[in-house]
Amino acid sequence: MLLPWAYETAERVLAPVLPRRWAHVQGVASKAQTLSAAVGDEAALLEAAAVLHDVGYAPDLSRTGFHPLDGAYFLRSIDAPERLVCLVAHHSCAIREARMRGLESEINQFPDEGSAVRDALWFCDLTTTPDGEPTTFTERVAEIKERYGPADLVTAFITEAEGDLGAAIARTEQRMVNSPKRQST
Ligand SMILES: [Fe+2]
Repeated sequence: MLLPWAYETAERVLAPVLPRRWAHVQGVASKAQTLSAAVGDEAALLEAAAVLHDVGYAPDLSRTGFHPLDGAYFLRSIDAPERLVCLVAHHSCAIREARMRGLESEINQFPDEGSAVRDALWFCDLTTTPDGEPTTFTERVAEIKERYGPADLVTAFITEAEGDLGAAIARTEQRMVNSPKRQST
């Protein structure tokens, strides 16, 4: 079963060494549960990607030093489903930061599916605090800029990615509004 495996894997990798990151991904996964209407039959894939999206922060898994790629390499090495691997590689507009880090050709080994699940994963990550609490996209971006400071590459990245991230969030909100599942419940 995908979900128990995803939670066990994320907990094993993150909880002992990065407990705050483990709290964050649990919050992101909780948010994913609220968005099932936006992703049709793919709610389990979304939630699995949500709980695993930051495994690449685990120091033992560092390979490129860029956590979306390191997470994807790790997940591929343990035979995770390929869509899950690619969703993790591209989470929250990672392609833009990969370009800034000279890792574009490396991240392009993993196709970005550009789907409703992918948009919803970005939504979940960008509306959850580092401690796993719900927040707004605006507050989350402001917190990232403040945490890293004006000179950091991550601040430049989030500034550049804001439009793409906001568009993914808006598409997800629209899918929630349009969902027959939501309207019938
Ligand atoms: Fe995250």
